[in-house]
Amino acid sequence: MANIYVITSGKGGVGKTTAAAAIGAGLAAAGKRVALIDMDLGLRNLDVALGLETLVFYHIGDVLKGSIKLEDALVSSDRYPGLSLLAAAQSVQPGSITTDGLKNITEALTAISEYILIDCPAGIGEYFRAVIPLADEGIVITTPVVSAVRDADKVLHLLEEAGVRRRRVLVNAVRPELVKKGSMMEARDITDVLGAELLGVIPDDDEVIGMVNEGKPVSGTRSAAGAAYDRIVRRLLGEELPIPPLKIKKKGWFRRR
Ligand SMILES: Nc1ncnc2c1ncn2[C@@H]1O[C@H](COP(=O)(O)OP(=O)(O)OP(=O)(O)O)[C@@H](O)[C@H]1O
Ligand SMILES: [Mg+2]
Repeated sequence: MANIYVITSGKGGVGKTTAAAAIGAGLAAAGKRVALIDMDLGLRNLDVALGLETLVFYHIGDVLKGSIKLEDALVSSDRYPGLSLLAAAQSVQPGSITTDGLKNITEALTAISEYILIDCPAGIGEYFRAVIPLADEGIVITTPVVSAVRDADKVLHLLEEAGVRRRRVLVNAVRPELVKKGSMMEARDITDVLGAELLGVIPDDDEVIGMVNEGKPVSGTRSAAGAAYDRIVRRLLGEELPIPPLKIKKKGWFRRR
């Protein structure tokens, strides 16, 4: 049986798609069969984050309508053995996204995958609500910013209400030098406030932006964020791995922040 994960956040732009690509690619590199579903309907970013956009011909809307079989809509590539992607529809017919319809998809994917990762749209809208009852686990992403943490709290409550049995928080874009100065919240303080388990902490890393734009998942790279994602992947594989404090980067002469 595959474990179904929803990757969610209250606030937008906090790094869900980057995380879905990094974790999905990392699990596949570890030899797992992984299915990624892009539920950010109307936008579609996950294929780009994986560099697979030229291979997308069909999407989740086609499968839900019944016009395309799931196996024909799944995108796979030699770049990621064991990984398949169901892309988001860029336009959606009102009322076409239902929990029952999505359940048919996740059940079929369960037969061929060990991990199913669902990249959710930001917030607590219709598509988020349709998909969360299907999840076994929730990964709630927040940045160390009060508004994002407050929105993460709401998402965590909704996941609990929907029966998602394990809910973990990933704190993204942390700047350890600001944490040290006391001007940025510490990840442990965030999870204390949220009353939730910490899955991992990812540094704010300029290299991420370039990698995402080039369609390269961050895991398995020599960047600081890559190393942090690799540890998250190992945790999801069941390893009990401590979460070390992030290292403060030495300021270069030209480094602006
Ligand atoms: N750890 C990080 N360090 C620096 N930049 C990051 C980091 N994580 C993500 N980003 C950048 O933040 C931007 C938003 O990331 P992403 O698209 O993954 O967010 P999202 O939560 O999926 O957004 P949306 O809510 O719109 O779906 C991207 O430009 C990405 O490169
Ligand atoms: Mg996204």
